[in-house]
Amino acid sequence: MSRKELNISTKLLHGVWASEIDAGAMVTPIYQNSAFAYDSAEAIEAVFAGRQAGYVYSRMGNPTLTQLERSLTALEDGLGAISTSSGMAAITSTVLALAESGDEIVSGNSIFGGTYSLLHSTLARSGIKTTFVESTDVQAFRNAITDRTKLVFIETIGNPKLDVPDFFAITEVAHEKGVALVADNTITPSLFQPKKAGADIVIHSTTKFINGHGNAIGGAIIDTGIFDWAGKRYRHLDNIRKRTGNFAFLAFLRNQIHRDMGTCQAPFNAFLTSIGIESLALRMERHSLNAMKVASFLASDKRIVEVRYPGLETHPDHKVADKQFENGYGALLTLRLRDRGSCFKFINSLKRAQNAANIGDVRTLVIHPASTFCRELTGEERLAVGASDNLIRFSIGIEHADDIISDIDESLSNI
Ligand SMILES: Cc1ncc(COP(=O)(O)O)c(C=O)c1O
Repeated sequence: MSRKELNISTKLLHGVWASEIDAGAMVTPIYQNSAFAYDSAEAIEAVFAGRQAGYVYSRMGNPTLTQLERSLTALEDGLGAISTSSGMAAITSTVLALAESGDEIVSGNSIFGGTYSLLHSTLARSGIKTTFVESTDVQAFRNAITDRTKLVFIETIGNPKLDVPDFFAITEVAHEKGVALVADNTITPSLFQPKKAGADIVIHSTTKFINGHGNAIGGAIIDTGIFDWAGKRYRHLDNIRKRTGNFAFLAFLRNQIHRDMGTCQAPFNAFLTSIGIESLALRMERHSLNAMKVASFLASDKRIVEVRYPGLETHPDHKVADKQFENGYGALLTLRLRDRGSCFKFINSLKRAQNAANIGDVRTLVIHPASTFCRELTGEERLAVGASDNLIRFSIGIEHADDIISDIDESLSNI
C-alpha cells in the first residue's frame, strides 16, 4: 500500500462524499424527488444527449444514490458502481447486461437460493442456460466453459454450506477463456476485495452487512476495471465502447438495462445504506471476532454433531479462506445437531438470537435453512448447498461475545 493510499475503514468515512452536490452537509442529504428541472430545452437536451453531465430522472440516477455509489466504488476499489433496488436486481441486471438468449453461464452450485432459482428457472425460461459445477472444483469450471459462456459466477462463502471457492484459481480459468468473472461478495465486504484475486464484477446485496441494521433492501454492482470489454465475447458492447472506453459495461448497464428494467434503489434506502457503510469495516471485524469465539467455544462441545466456520483449522477450506480474507472470516457459522426436532427445540429456546430470514444484521440471527429458504430445493440441490435437516445457520452479531455464547450454551442444555 502506498503511503498516500488510505485504509478502507478511513476511505469509507472520508473523501467519498461529492461535496459539490450540497453545501457542506456532513451526512448524505436525501433527494426525495423523481425528476430534475432545467432552465432551457437546450440544457435538458444536452444532458439527454450525454454532452453534459446531470440528473434527469431518479430511475437513472440521483445525488443520494451517487453518494452511495462512490462509497461502493471505494469499497471494491472499482471503476464505478451502480446501486440497485435489491441484491437480486443487481444479479439480474448484471446477467442481462452480459448475456442474451442462447448464451450460457457457469456458476458454482453452492450459492444463495434466490440466485439459484433466478439462474436455474427464471433465466432458463428466457433462453439463458446455466451450468452448475461444484463451487470448489476449479477444473469443473474450466470444463464447463463453452464458446457461448458470458460469465462465471461465484460467491465468496457458500451459504449455508460455508465452502470457500479459490477465487485466484477460478478467476484465472475464466480469464484464460476470455470470460468475465462475477463475484457475489455479500458475505465478506471489507474482509475481501475480489479485485485482488482478479474478479471483474463485484455484486452485493447491500441489504446485509453493508447496511448492517436491517432497515433497507438494496444491491450494488461494481466494475473493478480489470476486464477488457473489447473481448470477442462481448460484441454487443462494441458501439458503446467507442464512446466510453472501458466504462462500456457500466454505461450499457446504467443507460440501458438498469434504465429499462427500473431496478433503481429508492433514495431513502440509499441514505440508510450510506450511513451503514461508514461503520462496515469496524462491524465486520467485530462480527468475525465474535463468530471465531463462538466457533472455538463449540469446537469440542459434545452436545453438537459439528460446528463449521471458515476460521477453524478443521474447516475443509480453511487454507483458502486464510489466503483470501483479511481481518477475519465473517459472521456466518453453522451447527449440526442430532436431528430436525433438536434444531427446532434449540432455536425456540434461544433468548437473544432472533429467528429471521436475514444475515448481516448487527444482532445475532439464527435460522433452520432446510425448512425455510432452502425448502423449495430438491433433495440433491439441498445436499449441494449443505442444507441438511439437522443444520442451523447463525449470522453472529456484534453483541458482547460472552452474551452470544451464554445464549447458545443455555439453549443447547435445553434440547
Ligand atoms: C449471497 C447473497 N446474494 C444475494 C442475495 C439477494 O439479496 P436481496 O435479498 O437484497 O435481494 C442474498 C440474500 O440473502 C445473498 O445472501
